[in-house]
Amino acid sequence: MSAGARPGAPGHLGHSGGRGPGTPGPGPGRDGSPDHPGPGGGSAPDGPGAGGHGVRHSAARYAHPRPPVALFRRSGPDRLMLGLQRLASAVEPLTARLPPGHRIPEPAGNLCVRVARVQRPVPDVAVLTLVPDRPGDRLPAWQPGHHVDVVLADGVVRPYSLNGDPRDRGRYRIAVRRIPGGTGSALVHGLAEGDTLGLRGPRNAFPFARAERYLFVAGGIGITPILPMVWAAHRARTPFRLVYTGRSRSGMPFLDELPAGADTAVRPDDEFGPPEPARLLDGLAQGTAVYACGPAPLIDAVRAHVPPGTPFFSERFAPAPVLGGAAFEVQLGRGGPVVAVPADESALEAVRRVRPRTAYSCRQGFCGTCRVGLLEGVPDHRDRPTGGSPRGAEFALCVSRAGEGERIVVDV
Ligand SMILES: Cc1cc2nc3c(=O)[nH]c(=O)nc-3n(C[C@H](O)[C@H](O)[C@H](O)COP(=O)(O)OP(=O)(O)OC[C@H]3O[C@@H](n4cnc5c(N)ncnc54)[C@H](O)[C@@H]3O)c2cc1C
Ligand code: FES
Repeated sequence: MSAGARPGAPGHLGHSGGRGPGTPGPGPGRDGSPDHPGPGGGSAPDGPGAGGHGVRHSAARYAHPRPPVALFRRSGPDRLMLGLQRLASAVEPLTARLPPGHRIPEPAGNLCVRVARVQRPVPDVAVLTLVPDRPGDRLPAWQPGHHVDVVLADGVVRPYSLNGDPRDRGRYRIAVRRIPGGTGSALVHGLAEGDTLGLRGPRNAFPFARAERYLFVAGGIGITPILPMVWAAHRARTPFRLVYTGRSRSGMPFLDELPAGADTAVRPDDEFGPPEPARLLDGLAQGTAVYACGPAPLIDAVRAHVPPGTPFFSERFAPAPVLGGAAFEVQLGRGGPVVAVPADESALEAVRRVRPRTAYSCRQGFCGTCRVGLLEGVPDHRDRPTGGSPRGAEFALCVSRAGEGERIVVDV
């Protein structure tokens, strides 16, 4: 990587990594088979087939698929497939009658775990090893890219990426950077060995798809979901390159856990200057999938430089700014206070000024924590997976909106 120009110069990217001296943490496991999860709920919007630079297929092809031709040289469609297709058409209207806006099913229900170990490999980052509260229990399986919703004191819920070894069903590991003034991260940093807490999930908003080769770009604490991907590619002997950026080496966790001898470029700003987005993608070979996690400017700049046709996946830890929104109103119950939502702000932010305890977690429309009942109004649903559904009887305060000057009445 090049040394680049000075911090703050145009075309260069900021970081949110911490600072200070580092101490080692435990490494993920060694050999094993690759983990190639498929897309899960709340997939990153930039993946193949989801806009961006991914592979696209016509909608009609999926809406009216042709039944496959029967085997053994018979002409005409396969009868079994035709039968299954009819069965599916009969069942679909029944499932469509599920209550509108129903919650995303929790894949593994609520889990109770105990903090087995707390490490602080760099200042401002706490690494927690979590084990089942009931000795002998196994934790639900996960794959690189999965996160868990951690249920903290007072019902505060925050998502954190799983970043240990997916083959170890006896423990999870999360790494949490303390955000100045943050509620959830401060609560995590206050946890001690022996404390118990609730988890929801694991769930996947950052699917790790099969590719011929990978470019991983991590910025600061954004290394957390990337590290298990790096190890999965390394174990599978799939060619990859990791570019790990941060403010300074001493504030970048897990440097000692990167696979030895692999193509990894550790690139702290205080040694190399802020990363130049185009240089991060230098020499991108055909068949490479690009994965990025870190500060928003880093993700946006990498996305902007990914060539068309290259699959690009990213995960944000904080929500994207509201773009193209209109100002509207949210009324908190029939006859309740009316909150003005500015065009560039989420309803969640506006409502929290009046009701500071309004619950949220992902703030990106995929966890369901902030959904409230919808009593009146015409919503513009932007949450997933019910995003855009005209059936929604709930309103996701973190992302959903309404037309200019309109009013949404919610059941809170
Ligand atoms: C899928 C997913 C996975 C995540 N994985 C991790 C992880 O592995 N490790 C980790 O440390 N965090 C991770 N996060 C972020 C984490 O969930 C919390 O958002 C973060 O810990 C801040 O929560 P808080 O309650 O302390 O801050 P809040 O009380 O929610 O916010 C306090 C203030 O800080 C701002 N703020 C919130 N989050 C950030 C941020 N990330 N950067 C800068 N400013 C912010 C808010 O806008 C607000 O002004 C993940 C988020 C998502 C959506
Ligand atoms: S906070 Fe997750 S959907 Fe709104």
